[in-house]
Amino acid sequence: MKVISIVGARPQLVKLAPIAAAFAETEHEHRIVHTGQHYDADLSDVFFSGLGIPDPDVHLGVGSGSHGVQTGAVLSALDPVFEAERPDWVLVYGDTNSTVAGALSAVKMHLPVAHLEAGLRSFNRRMPEEHNRVLTDHCADLLLAPTEEAMRHLAHEGLAARSALAGDVMVDICLRIRDAVLAGEHPAPALPEGIDRTQPFLLATLHRPDNTDDPERLDALVGALAGLPVPVALLAHPRLVARAEEHGIELARGAIQVGRPLPYAGLVAAVLASAGVVTDSGGLQKEAFLLERICTTVRPETEWIETVRAGWNTLVPDPHELSDVKWAETVLRPSPADDPGKPYGDGRAAHNVVRLLEEWQDSPQHAKRAR
Ligand code: UD1
Repeated sequence: MKVISIVGARPQLVKLAPIAAAFAETEHEHRIVHTGQHYDADLSDVFFSGLGIPDPDVHLGVGSGSHGVQTGAVLSALDPVFEAERPDWVLVYGDTNSTVAGALSAVKMHLPVAHLEAGLRSFNRRMPEEHNRVLTDHCADLLLAPTEEAMRHLAHEGLAARSALAGDVMVDICLRIRDAVLAGEHPAPALPEGIDRTQPFLLATLHRPDNTDDPERLDALVGALAGLPVPVALLAHPRLVARAEEHGIELARGAIQVGRPLPYAGLVAAVLASAGVVTDSGGLQKEAFLLERICTTVRPETEWIETVRAGWNTLVPDPHELSDVKWAETVLRPSPADDPGKPYGDGRAAHNVVRLLEEWQDSPQHAKRAR
C-alpha cells in the first residue's frame, strides 16, 4: 500500500510524527509531501528534527498568502505529484488550507482520500478552519474520527458510512514526549527571558485571526494577559507578531514576557512547568488536558468539548466581561479532582489509522474509487 501524507502547518507535523513512526513498522510505502504553508524554522524544521520525522519527499514551497492564493497554490502544485505517484491513499490532516487543498486535488484525480481528525466542528463559520473541515470531510472517502463526539457530528451530516473511530494521534505523541521529558531526555525549554521556571507562571499563545486581526480585540486580549498577577510566557506565533507590529500593539508589557514558538518537546516541558495555559490553539487545549494543566481558552467555542466537560478547560470569549479579580481567579483556578477518563483514546491511534487504511483498501467502495 502506498500512502502520501500531505502536511504543511505546525500542528500537522505533530500529527504526522506518530503516523510516520507507525508506517515505519510496516512494509507500506509512506511518502511525505510538505506544502510549505509554514516555512519558518520555528514552525516547521524543528518539528522534523525534534520528532524524528523523515525529511519530506516533496516540498511544494507555497508559503503565505490570502486563503485563495495559498489554497490554490497547493491545489495546482499537487497535480503533478499525484500524477507521478498514483498512491493508494492520500492522507490529509486536520483543518488547514493545506488539508482542504490536498483533499480536493486528490478527489479530482480519483485518488482515495482519508481525513485524519475528521468530524471536529466549532459551528463557527467565521473560522477558516471550519470551512476546511466541513469541505474535507464531505469530499474524503474515509473519515478517521478522533472522538465519539466527532463520530456523532459526521453521522449527523450523513457521513456515518464513511467514518471510523481511530482515536487521537496527538495522545500518542504527547504522552511519548511527556515521558521523555520527565525522564530528563530533553534539555530545559527556552522560555522567554524573565520567566523563572521555579516560580508559578502561565503559558500563553494567541494566533487565531479572530483574536489577532482586529486591533481592538488584540489590544484587549494582550491587556488582559498583561494585567495578570503572575508572569505570563507568551510564545508568539509569527501571525501574532506581524499583526501586533502592524497595529502598533506592544506585546511585552505588564506580566507578559515574549518568547518564540517552542519545539514540541520544549512545549510539553513548558506546559508541565507551568501553573496553567491561556490559549486560542486547538492543539494546546488538548495538550494541557493530557498533561493535567488547567487551560483557559479565549474563544467563544471549542472543538475539544471533552476538555471542558471534564473541567480542565474553560472558555472565556472576552476576558473584559469578567472583573480583573475573576479573570485572574479563572486562569489560576485549581485543577478538578475527578478522573477525566480517556476521551481521546489510549495512545495507539496511529496504529489504528494504519489498520483502518489497510481494511478500507480491501473494501468494494475503495476499489471503485481507485483506478
Ligand atoms: C494555520 C492554520 C491554523 C493552524 C495554524 C497553526 C489555516 C487556515 N490555518 O494558521 O488552522 O492552527 O496554522 O500555526 O490553514 N507566517 C510566518 N511564517 C510561517 C508561517 C506563517 O511568518 O512559517 C506568518 C505569515 O505572516 C502568514 C501568517 O503567519 O501570513 C499566517 O500563516 P498561515 O499559514 O496563513 O496561517 P496560520 O495563522 O499559521
